[in-house]
Amino acid sequence: MVTGGAGFIGSHVVERLLAVGADVVVIDDLSTGTRRNLAAAEAQGARLVVGDVRNADLLDAELAGASLVLHMACGNLRASLAEPMDSHERNATGTLTACLAAVRQGVGRFVYVSSSEAYGSAVTFPMAEDHPLLPTTVYGAAKAAGELYAQACMRRYDIEATVVRPFNSYGPREHSSGNSAEVIPKFAARILAGLPPVIFGDGSQTRDFTWVEETAVGIVGAAASDAIVGQAINIARGEGVSVAQLSEHLLDLLAANGLRAEYDDERPGDVMHHLADPSRARQLLGFEAQVGIREGLERYVAWLRAEDAAGDAPTERAAVRNW
Ligand SMILES: NC(=O)c1ccc[n+]([C@@H]2O[C@H](COP(=O)([O-])OP(=O)(O)OC[C@H]3O[C@@H](n4cnc5c(N)ncnc54)[C@H](O)[C@@H]3O)[C@@H](O)[C@H]2O)c1
Repeated sequence: MVTGGAGFIGSHVVERLLAVGADVVVIDDLSTGTRRNLAAAEAQGARLVVGDVRNADLLDAELAGASLVLHMACGNLRASLAEPMDSHERNATGTLTACLAAVRQGVGRFVYVSSSEAYGSAVTFPMAEDHPLLPTTVYGAAKAAGELYAQACMRRYDIEATVVRPFNSYGPREHSSGNSAEVIPKFAARILAGLPPVIFGDGSQTRDFTWVEETAVGIVGAAASDAIVGQAINIARGEGVSVAQLSEHLLDLLAANGLRAEYDDERPGDVMHHLADPSRARQLLGFEAQVGIREGLERYVAWLRAEDAAGDAPTERAAVRNW
């Protein structure tokens, strides 16, 4: 079972699971995910159950006979700034509910997809798994709480728990508008609409960006590994890229003649620097993210152009014009 499997990363994880021969059931309330994201996966036999992970009865019914839960359902970071209680309930309560249902149904393994946001802003570089958890947002705190719930369930009950901490992922199906929108699709959508990308702060903040199909390979590899049960593992490329660099690459790739980035106030709680130490994943999973930022952005731009050419661009991207 994949919770949150109709979302951005979740839909790639579902496709990866199908590729390695798994039977997949997705539970998703479609609050930010879409059935459209799962079109290819449903055609290959994945089954979508529309529902909330906080619904214990639903989970009990759907989990009977499952061997693995990959828990990815979440409310996103920006939503947590406006609605912190909702973020707590979706992310922390949702994780405990899902893990306890897995215990009740005798599921062997619970894999919790946490986030680099649980670390907060880096105090040591690069960030290995023993970096302290100092979240700067309710989202980050709720992701950290979910980790502790998963690990406490492993100590208290008969279930294996693994914590995966992806860093920023990007690629096809990433949200481009509304409060789920991430920096790369937002910049691209604005440039395509003839508008300047807007950088919050001075643009020197860095993130470690991983091509989403590689993130999915890492998450599924972590789920299959016995070596990291009971531990946390970073899934990331291990390359710091600034927001200003992203804007320059995209302006260049989208040939936005004359357009320049605009600058606005810093966002509250924004972490300044994130850079993963991906050594544990390399050593224990043989996982290495190969796609560098320029190549990934080229692939992403090609995907955007193909969608636009097919007249298949989601209306959310067109809505960017109205910001
Ligand atoms: N996007 C990133 O760069 C990134 C980085 C680190 C970690 N993560 C983690 O990866 C996971 C997936 O993130 P994403 O970027 O794909 O986000 P997303 O918003 O695209 O996916 C989350 C999915 O969860 C669903 N959902 C939300 N609340 C639910 C609930 N109560 N019950 C059932 N479904 C619910 C949404 O509809 C959506 O499909 C999350 O756990 C997130 O914390 C993401």
